Amino acid sequence: MSERHERLVWDLPLRLTHWLIALGVAGCFATHYAGIEWFPWHRRLGYAVLVLAAFRIVWGFAGTRHARFAAFLRGPRAILAYLRGAGGDAVGHNPLGALSVVALLAVLVAQGATGLFANDEIMNAGPFYGWIDPALSNRITGLHRLNSELLLVLVGLHLAAVAWYVGLRRRPLLRAMVTGRKPATEVPETEAIPGSRLPLALVIVAVLAAALALAVAKAPEASIALY
Ligand code: HEM
Ligand code: HEM
Repeated sequence: MSERHERLVWDLPLRLTHWLIALGVAGCFATHYAGIEWFPWHRRLGYAVLVLAAFRIVWGFAGTRHARFAAFLRGPRAILAYLRGAGGDAVGHNPLGALSVVALLAVLVAQGATGLFANDEIMNAGPFYGWIDPALSNRITGLHRLNSELLLVLVGLHLAAVAWYVGLRRRPLLRAMVTGRKPATEVPETEAIPGSRLPLALVIVAVLAAALALAVAKAPEASIALY
């Protein structure tokens, strides 16, 4: 399909954030299972996922039309109508998908935030370990583990839902998350977005990354007491 018959729905920052988060999460799991010497990369990738998920939440208020929570978060009635097939196709996220977007973002932020205080009781700790009691860090580490399982479940459901829409219902969702565009037949001209607001997105990411870097730099040296 030529670009002339498609309209822009997902801005570039949203798409980049999506694929970088997916890579970052895969990297966080891989670096955990690869062994303790990979922890510096676990930490770096975790920071990246945390900043990107936080950015996506801010973008839910400051982003382009279909990126905004107000554009796709709907009440139970709209969700039920959608499930009954009465809602029609959404240009952006559908009312049910919207719930998984919010759940994924909340779980991603919780995963990154708990990691900052976690420790492995051997030699590695998140940068804020020194700010709290070791017993509290152990409890937060428990949450980091539990939440990582929840994240896996949500990602599994997410992939199953995408496979269902793309494979069985032939919706061009995956292509849209790559190119940002959907067929003009599905997107009224008035609903297409004019651009990506890239400079604004870069400023928001830079501010969030700087805030995290500053907090990490200010945190006391996190040293784990070896037995
Ligand atoms: C946001 C993306 C992140 C993901 C998906 C993730 C995932 C994981 C997973 C799967 C584990 C193993 C849990 C288990 O033992 O079963 C783990 C452990 C750990 N993570 Fe993360 N993590 C993330 C971010 C972070 C960050 C930002 C830090 C700190 C800078 C961090 C610090 C730790 C520590 C210290 C452990 C060891 C705890 C243990 O021994 O179980 N993580 N993480
Ligand atoms: C750790 C892995 C992943 C996470 C955490 C994740 C998370 C998300 C989130 C938060 C959204 C909402 C996008 C937004 O509004 O910003 C989304 C949408 C989407 N994701 Fe993923 N994703 C992951 C992996 C994947 C993979 C591997 C694929 C493709 C095979 C994929 C395909 C899609 C598609 C097609 C959408 C758009 C759904 C729609 O049109 O409503 N995701 N994902």
